[in-house]
Amino acid sequence: MNLPTLLATMPKAELHIHIEGSLEPELIFQLAQRNGVALPYASVEELRRAYAFTNLQSFLDIYYAGASVLLREQDFHDMAWAYLQKAAADHVIRTEIFFDPQTHTARGVSMETVIRGLSRACKDAKKLGVDAELILCFLRHLSEEDAFATLEQALPFREHFIGVGLDSSELGHPPEKFARVFAKCRAEGLHLVAHAGEEGPPAYVWSALDVLKVERIDHGVQSAKDPALMKRLADERIPLTVCPLSNLKLCVFPDLQQHNLRELLEAGLCATVNSDDPAYFGGYMNDNFLQTAAAIGLDRQHAYQLARNSFEGSFAEPSAKARYI
Ligand code: ADE
Ligand code: ZN
Repeated sequence: MNLPTLLATMPKAELHIHIEGSLEPELIFQLAQRNGVALPYASVEELRRAYAFTNLQSFLDIYYAGASVLLREQDFHDMAWAYLQKAAADHVIRTEIFFDPQTHTARGVSMETVIRGLSRACKDAKKLGVDAELILCFLRHLSEEDAFATLEQALPFREHFIGVGLDSSELGHPPEKFARVFAKCRAEGLHLVAHAGEEGPPAYVWSALDVLKVERIDHGVQSAKDPALMKRLADERIPLTVCPLSNLKLCVFPDLQQHNLRELLEAGLCATVNSDDPAYFGGYMNDNFLQTAAAIGLDRQHAYQLARNSFEGSFAEPSAKARYI
């Protein structure tokens, strides 16, 4: 079997996918029509042309605008179902899906609507052979108070999500801002993850680990600037959910050939490959694997290690993990 076929067909876990980032322009237009929402773009093509980003914030502005078409439980289900079909086609057998409830509750959509729609799609995913779970993300550009209020609204639906994360604008919003809300989530028995070291400095990765006590770092590619941090990540096998096409589209690396995934793997880190916001960044899981492997010269051993890391880094039950690995 050649390497591209191996990469495409090997069973894998996706650990970093924002479900709102899987909304394809066609579905945005379909939902806008279904819900009578006016869009500031005349066509799918015009919307796609706006997907030219210079950094994280330039993307987030368009990403939050796209999510404005989501109003009803069925909309959240349909968005997640479209993603899950793509994941299954890419041989993803386990996925841990981020969602941003504050993007929706701020527009008057209830927490119940969001969670019930997404959760129903995750249950339906069993039919596709995909084991899907939800992780609620707090928006870090909003206040700690807003995050606490969001947690309060979500706790009645506790059985529908396995953990919490931290996303949105990283620079200027260090992990420390959310120390108390993460402590509460930890006491609730939720898994903890956070975006850190995407655009932000290694110091944010240290504080995500030491202050928030996260179990995984989302992105984390800036860790390579700090040898002591690299040693800790390797020694403790702390997973990094790396998103190569996202890093390319948001100009974290000037081109894919200069991506540091190989360096992370060869330093013994539990690095994984993920799609982040596939509808905006030009590809789902296998696009990320195939384009990155070609650009940085991955071999079969790297492929095997990445698949293994994805299951090792997942929050699947130990018995399921043992079966996957
Ligand atoms: N929300 C969606 N995608 C994100 C990313 N790449 N970084 C931070 N927040 C996000
Ligand atoms: Zn992300």
